[in-house]
Amino acid sequence: MTLSSSPAPILAIESSCDDTACAILDADGTVLADTVLSQAGHVPFGGVVPEIAARAHLAALPALVRRTLDDAGMRATDIGAVAASTGPGLIGGLIVGAGLAKGLAVALDRPFVAVNHIEAHALTARLPGLVPGGAAFPYLLLLVSGGHCQCIAVEGVGRYRRLGGTIDDAAGEAFDKVAKMLGLGWPGGPAVEALAREGDPAPWPLPRPLLGRPGCDFSFSGLKTAVAQKLAPFAGDALPRAAAAGIAASFQDAVADIVADRVAHALEMMPQATLLVAAGGVAANGALRARLTALADAHGLPFAAPPLRLCTDNAVMVGWAAIETIRACRALGLPAGQDLDLLPRPRWPLEQMAERFAPLHGRAPSSSMCPSSMCPDSM
Ligand code: KG4
Ligand code: ZN
Repeated sequence: MTLSSSPAPILAIESSCDDTACAILDADGTVLADTVLSQAGHVPFGGVVPEIAARAHLAALPALVRRTLDDAGMRATDIGAVAASTGPGLIGGLIVGAGLAKGLAVALDRPFVAVNHIEAHALTARLPGLVPGGAAFPYLLLLVSGGHCQCIAVEGVGRYRRLGGTIDDAAGEAFDKVAKMLGLGWPGGPAVEALAREGDPAPWPLPRPLLGRPGCDFSFSGLKTAVAQKLAPFAGDALPRAAAAGIAASFQDAVADIVADRVAHALEMMPQATLLVAAGGVAANGALRARLTALADAHGLPFAAPPLRLCTDNAVMVGWAAIETIRACRALGLPAGQDLDLLPRPRWPLEQMAERFAPLHGRAPSSSMCPSSMCPDSM
């Protein structure tokens, strides 16, 4: 089935990490229903456990899809196309989400659009009404979450260049690990930010790895180790609240300095950018947002960060990326929504998304797409 015969709305599923989400959007991107379930089973482990995540997706998703249809006042047969995050991410969750979405598409005889999760984050800013005047290409995307930390030149649908990324931990991972060291809960970012508000960072200086280095790669593991060293003298004793707050504030300042410096370099690498966009859970951090706003301002650019609900993992962004893909394919006279044979994959480099439009260049559409979960390419 091709999309030319398919009416909207589109039902989208997200299950690439620890959020189970489903959304229904109409053809112009209006959100008709949007549900997200955050998994609590990881809390005792202080991080996402892939096996727990996959089982929780499996347990939750069928009912979540039904609830989302109910919220939209629709029956499954009203759906015109189905989309799902098909990579990159945790393979168990991807198999559950993409498998259910494909099953639905087959049962309903509707097209299926395989969505790259990172591409979905990258295109969220273009959801109608989100950025005043719209987010026109090209723009620079800073993606900072628990699993991702990278700068991406977003030049068009399917046209992405990864300018740099973390060489060790993701920014959110660093927040979560520091939160754990400070005895705060998981996920740790919001707790560290709250504690930092009452802290004096001055007595707790911390390093800023890679600051000023060429390019826009990130590194947080040295910073995390430095926090552990500051905490070492308190081992075995109760950590005074003033010390915990001061270290939290100092850590947050260091992350904001590192990210602002790396993004400044990324903007130099992408002088054609017309907008700076931040996405991912860490983009919710107020101190970081303030720094990025000032940075964009200094470059004469607007700064946009989708609202938190759309910054963190959600299915609206998956549906919107599918709509953008369908539109781009149609504009080029190419088929879309024929992705049933595209297998879930833990890695899916953004650069490969151009292959959807490969027939234009005389190449087979999926010849170099990784065929299995053994794909050796980087995200
Ligand atoms: O995008 P997200 O919901 O999930 C993925 O990792 O894909 O991001 C979650 C991450 C967690 O590491 C969490 O600690 C961090 O975002 N985070 C924050 C804040 N809110 C969430 N980090 C710093 N400050 C925050 N306010
Ligand atoms: Zn994500």
